Amino acid sequence: MDVASRAAREAGALLRRMLGTEIHVRSKDVRTDLVTEADTKSEALIRSILSDAFHDEAFLGEETGSSGDPSRGRWIVDPLDGTTNYAHGYRCFSVSIAFERAGVVELGCVFDPMADELFAAERGGGATCNGDRIRVSSCEDASAAMLVTGFPAHRVDDPLSNIHAFGDFLQITRAIRRDGSAALDLCYVACGRFDGFWEPGLHAWDIAAGALICTEAGGRVSGYRGEALSLEGGRLVASNGKIHDQMIKVVAKYG
Ligand code: IPD
Ligand code: CA
Ligand code: CA
Repeated sequence: MDVASRAAREAGALLRRMLGTEIHVRSKDVRTDLVTEADTKSEALIRSILSDAFHDEAFLGEETGSSGDPSRGRWIVDPLDGTTNYAHGYRCFSVSIAFERAGVVELGCVFDPMADELFAAERGGGATCNGDRIRVSSCEDASAAMLVTGFPAHRVDDPLSNIHAFGDFLQITRAIRRDGSAALDLCYVACGRFDGFWEPGLHAWDIAAGALICTEAGGRVSGYRGEALSLEGGRLVASNGKIHDQMIKVVAKYG
C-alpha cells in the first residue's frame, strides 16, 4: 500500500503539472475515446515505481496493456481516469491503482490530485481518505438519493447506451451527476457524497480500486442484476447498500 500510494501521489503530481500544457490529445479507435501524453507519462511513471519495488507481479495498464505472469498477482492501473475532463481542463480526474490476486482485489488506492485526496483500502481493513476512516451514506430511499453515472467512451457504437436508465433514475431520485471519472465516482459513494453509481461499459482499470474502496466503506458493488461484480463484466452498480435493490430494479432491465 505504501508503494502504491506513493505511485498514485507522484503520478497525480505529474498530471497536475501537465494540466493545461501541450499534451497532444488524440483519439484511440473511436472518436470519443481519448489519450494524451499525460496518460502515457503517468503510466510510465507508475510502472517504474512499481517495478523498482516488486519484480514478480504482472501488470495491466490501460495504455500499455497486460504483461507478466498473473499467478503471483497483478497490478491494475488507470494512469489518468477522466481523460476527457483533463483534455478540456475540467478538474475532475484521478489515478487508480489496485492489486489483484487470483481474481480478488487485495488493495486499491485512488488519488485526486486537484483536491489532494487519497482514497485507499486493503481487503478487510476498511477504507480511508487521507488516512481518515470513511463510510457510505445512510440514505434509505432512492427518492432522497443523489446518484452519479457515466457514459462509455465507446458510445458511438451504441449512442443511446445508458440514456434509458438515466431517464428512469431521473424520475425516481433527487438528482443525478455525470462527473467523468468512474474511479472517483466509486470513492464518492464510499465517502457518502453520492448514494449510488451505475455505468455500463467499464474496464477493470476503471473500477478495481474504487470497487474495493466502496465495499470496504460499507457499500455494495455488483453487476446489473445484483450478481457478484466481474472486473471484466462492464456493467456496475455501486451504492451505500441501502438503496442497492432499488437501483437493481431499474438497471436489471438494461443488463
Ligand atoms: C473513463 C471515465 C469515465 C467513464 C468512462 C471511462 P478514462 O475513463 O472513467 O467516467 O464514464 O466510461 O472510460 O478513459 O478517462 O480513463
Ligand atoms: Ca478510466
Ligand atoms: Ca484512463
